[in-house]
Amino acid sequence: MTVRIAPSILSADFARLGDEIAMCSAGGADMIHIDVMDGQFVPNLTFGAKVIETVRKLTTLPLDVHLMVVEPEKYFDAFDDAGASIITIHVETAPHLHRQLHRIKEVGCLAGAVMNPATPLETVREVALDLDLLLIMSVNPGFGGQTFIPTSVGKVERARRMLDEAGSRAMLEVDGGVGRDTIGTLRRAGADTFVAGNAIFSASDPRGEIGTLRRSCAVTE
Ligand code: DX5
Ligand code: ZN
Repeated sequence: MTVRIAPSILSADFARLGDEIAMCSAGGADMIHIDVMDGQFVPNLTFGAKVIETVRKLTTLPLDVHLMVVEPEKYFDAFDDAGASIITIHVETAPHLHRQLHRIKEVGCLAGAVMNPATPLETVREVALDLDLLLIMSVNPGFGGQTFIPTSVGKVERARRMLDEAGSRAMLEVDGGVGRDTIGTLRRAGADTFVAGNAIFSASDPRGEIGTLRRSCAVTE
């Protein structure tokens, strides 16, 4: 089964962004994860369309854009124009999730939904067939380098079952504290797409770490 590794550039050295993105490609990354934070939905500010446009020029890999912002629909057009491939919105910010997911598809991106650790899976059950990607947060969003919340494994298992039962072919992604120690268990639980920030960019050999993470999945297949 396909395993996708998505380095999160939140942990990259922005003074060397071009080199960092090139390192991700050389290491075999499948997509680049970009965390957009507005200082309202989460207690941190990061970047907007301008940075996505910059990353777009640096790589042909898909750009996996994780929106941690209130009223995310305000930005769909701008992020699509900037080169986003997947736009993922938090269910906590999406009172009209069905409409918002379809709006993402209309602008030309794949549509993802994501939920915080305390948010139940039920919030996406009715839109399972509308999803191109389901992202389970395994930390509270806002910062890189946080500790993995162990109950996320059970949530991934239940998400896998829910998607399979619905007949959904959505990618099942996990974000937060994913590294060598957690990725195998998450793979066995049914996830296929793994965001890793700190685990890659703080490794002594970041490029090699991408392969190590992938191999840690393979041994559990
Ligand atoms: C957290 C972000 C993550 C973050 C992951 O809010 O959504 O994508 O960059 O970083 P690590 O892998 O270091 O937990
Ligand atoms: Zn993220």
